[in-house]
This record gives sequence, structure tokens and C-alpha cells, in this order.
Amino acid sequence: MRQAPTVAGRLPRIVPTGAALGACVEGVDLRGLDTETFAFIYQAWLDHQVLLVRDQSLTDADLLAFSRRFGDLDEAPIQETGRRFVEGYPEIYVVSNVVQNGVPMGSLGAGEAVWHTDMSYLPDPPKASVLYAIEVPPQGGDTSFCSMTAAWAELPDPLRQRAAGLRVKHDGTYNSGGYVREGVTPTGDPRTSPGTLHPLVFVHPETGRPGLYLGRRRNAYIEGLSLEDSNALLDEIWAEATRASLTWTHQWRVGDLVLWDNRCTMHRRDAFDPAARRVMHRTQIRR
Ligand code: SIN
Repeated sequence: MRQAPTVAGRLPRIVPTGAALGACVEGVDLRGLDTETFAFIYQAWLDHQVLLVRDQSLTDADLLAFSRRFGDLDEAPIQETGRRFVEGYPEIYVVSNVVQNGVPMGSLGAGEAVWHTDMSYLPDPPKASVLYAIEVPPQGGDTSFCSMTAAWAELPDPLRQRAAGLRVKHDGTYNSGGYVREGVTPTGDPRTSPGTLHPLVFVHPETGRPGLYLGRRRNAYIEGLSLEDSNALLDEIWAEATRASLTWTHQWRVGDLVLWDNRCTMHRRDAFDPAARRVMHRTQIRR
């Protein structure tokens, strides 16, 4: 546990989850952080890859202001409905199963969202995402995180040797809820589908730590291999990379804010009762 040296009145405490990644920041109001406290939180985020801050009371403007301290924001991806953003806030992505007047107010529904890294189908994916809980179901909808640096560190040697130097096509057809992205016609062939090639092993630009960069499994393809060989190798790597010992799972409460490093983690979400309401607002920090 570490403490910020000088924060008048309330010192944030960094309490690691005890899992492969993640820590809770306690005793902090994210509205109007001073420079020193922000620097302390930023370093804790680099150290732990995912931070949880509970009991926040943030407007969309507060969420954007906090997110902007980490860097420029990306506009939200287009939702399955073709809508892009919350009115007046193009950087806010709504993750929700709630349907208003016959129109879903957000993306991903109430089903499982499979392991993924946000927006890795783009050439320059966001470095971080911030997810803020506005309404949560009484049960289900937990979000798990997986450390990709730990996954690389623990990958068996023969697999490491095969993985080094390869590039993976990150497919842009489906989102993590399995929905086809707006404007995309699925081809079923990952070699020709929209997406981007990224190195399979990524060196974190701020920590220098290497990690696997997998994106999402569906329609992934290793450049230069036959589809069969690519699928076989990806299946082996994915099985290693998503072992329970590399993960941490968060059960949400209203007012929770979770910030993850999109360069060295993946996340997934459990399904929940579609009759319950779950509303989360997410920002994406470009760099
Ligand atoms: C996401 O993939 O960004 C959403 C995760 C969640 O709904 O918990």
C-alpha cells in the first residue's frame, strides 16, 4: 500500500487486488484532482494496469475532464444502432442494455462480452479506457480483466518462440458483444475482413514491459499462416493468456469508475438479466 506524499486532508491509498493486476484507489474524489495526486494515480495505473475508484459522483462533463487528464480522447465507436454518441458528448460511448422508445440507448446488450482490447481493429487504438457505472443490475454484468504482460511472462517457452515476430490481424467486423459493427458486411474470412495488423508482442511505451497484444479471438488471423495453422496457434496462445490466475474480476456498484490500460490488458463482461438495467459511460483515451 502506498500513500501520496502531500494531499491536503485526504490521502489516496492504493490497495492492490492481490490478483495478477488491478488496484483500488481509496480516499479520493476524482473531480478536481491536484497535479500531485493525479501524478500519483497515473503512476499507480501504470503499475497495476487497472484501477478501481469507488463512490464517485460524476457528471458526463466530470468524466470527460478526468479522462482528458490522461490524454486526448477518441470519439466513441459507432453503436450498433448507427448512433455515435450522447448528445453533445461525442467522446462518450454508452454501454447499456436499456431500450428507450424502442431504441437501444447503448451497445453490447445484456449478453456476454467476450475477451477483448478496445478498438484494436484500428491502426492506433486508444491507450486507455474509463468506464463509469451509472446503473448496475443486482447481479451479473461483472467485468474481468487479464494482464497481457503477465500472460507474455508466463507463456511457455516454445509458444514464446513461435509468437515472437508475428503479426495478428485484428478484425473490425464484430464488437465484443458479437454484434456486426455499423456499415460492415461480414465476409467470414479474416484475411479479407476490415481490420488492422498489429505485432503479437507489444512493448509498452511507458513501462517498457513486453506483453501479448491479442485484441479479440473472433476472426483473428496470424499473417502469413494458413487459416488452419493460424487458428491452431491462436487457440494455444489464447488458452494460456486467459488463464484464471492472470485475471481479476470486478463486481460493480453505482459510482464505480474503472480505468484500464488498453495496451497491456484485455477485458470481458458476464451476461446479466436482460430485464435488469445496466448503464455505463465509457471514454477512450487516445494517447
Ligand atoms: C467494454 O467492453 O468496454 C464494456 C465492459 C462492460 O460492460 O463491463
